[in-house]
Amino acid sequence: MSETSTVLLTRASREHLDALERIETASFITDRISRRSFRRFIDQDIGDFQVLLSDGEVVGYYIVLYRQATQLARLYSLAVAPEHRRRGFGTKLLDAAENDADERHCLFMRLEVKTDNFVAQAMYHKAGYYDMEIRAEYYEDDSDALVLQKLLPSFELPEGSNGTQRLVPYRTQTTDFTCGPASLLMAMAYFDIPSNDAHYEELEIWREATTIFMTSGHGGCGPHGLARAALKRGMQVTLHVSVDGPLLLDSVRNNDKKQVMARIQEYDIASLKEAGVPIVVGDYTVSQLIADLNNGKLVVALISTYVFDESKAPHWVLICAADDNYVYINDPDQDTFPWQSAANRQYLPIPIATFRRAFGFGRRKQKAALVLEKSDNAPINQYNDA
Ligand SMILES: CC(C)(COP(=O)(O)OP(=O)(O)OC[C@H]1O[C@@H](n2cnc3c(N)ncnc32)[C@H](O)[C@@H]1OP(=O)(O)O)[C@@H](O)C(=O)NCCC(=O)NCCS
Repeated sequence: MSETSTVLLTRASREHLDALERIETASFITDRISRRSFRRFIDQDIGDFQVLLSDGEVVGYYIVLYRQATQLARLYSLAVAPEHRRRGFGTKLLDAAENDADERHCLFMRLEVKTDNFVAQAMYHKAGYYDMEIRAEYYEDDSDALVLQKLLPSFELPEGSNGTQRLVPYRTQTTDFTCGPASLLMAMAYFDIPSNDAHYEELEIWREATTIFMTSGHGGCGPHGLARAALKRGMQVTLHVSVDGPLLLDSVRNNDKKQVMARIQEYDIASLKEAGVPIVVGDYTVSQLIADLNNGKLVVALISTYVFDESKAPHWVLICAADDNYVYINDPDQDTFPWQSAANRQYLPIPIATFRRAFGFGRRKQKAALVLEKSDNAPINQYNDA
């Protein structure tokens, strides 16, 4: 690229058809987009179709398609003319395609590429795409496709935080019943409350906060028990629950088990009251949640993962931040979004509308959220002064 060359992106139009056809023929051996198809994408204004011009010459293009009612964008095609490759144009096109999809509030960009197209794969991997699966005999010549995907929205530190704000550290729960304790441990790490042995403490918090029974297997943690565990570890807690009294009993059929669950939660409620912990009964709204987060608090919330993975288990996650479109959660469970890396489960963006559906558990959509902040008189280390 010469110093003076001008590079700009513009919407594809009929005047670009000759160049597009040339780039397509030079770039792909099978599954080429025909001139007719290019024209249809242009005339019917389908998806986002942009060409990159360098000194007025078309040097590449991309097409992103969207499906209604999914938050998935599909990079249908992207190519750079052979004589203009390795000058950053491919990356420029990919960045622009992702911006388009992000503006439409898509969560993911997905694409297929031939398994032997290592050049394109190198570009996508470098841009943060991860391999999802191989689709056998996907192309016209029966070759296989590698499906790649990237999570698009990323949490941006608010303006004015001048880099001093720290992200909430991430940890994966080590058992399938310790999502609550793992969420609390992340909050503790953020508030600089030390833990002698976080591995042990995850189980210790569970012993303090478990409802004993639940749908199947070991019981998870209840909101009141978790609030007590947070208080004990030097956090100031406000507990928001949609129901006065014990929660999560609906998921258990056996009456004896219900009674045990109720007894333990009633004791927890009495202890919280004695300690002066506010228990707010009512609907904890998304606007309250956003206000709390903006005031530097963290929120451990009970969600149903049904909207994500169709499993009906109650699940605790740590909500770290929110903006106009997303709440960002640290999800301690690596099974909720199995295709995500640990880095992607930190500040995982959940569209606000999706969060509204996920927040709450069971037929009666019982809600529970612990709003946490560091208490002024937090012990430096609870183990040292025990
Ligand atoms: C893939 C393609 C779009 C890359 O375009 P480009 O303008 O050369 O890409 P860039 O210059 O921005 O390079 C981006 C990265 O891709 C990788 N890459 C590009 N060409 C490469 C090559 N020949 N060998 C190894 N890696 C290569 C590198 O990681 C590069 O980053 P770097 O230059 O910092 O090392 C281009 O090769 C192309 O059009 N190929 C044919 C069509 C195609 O395969 N499309 C994708 C399928 S959907």
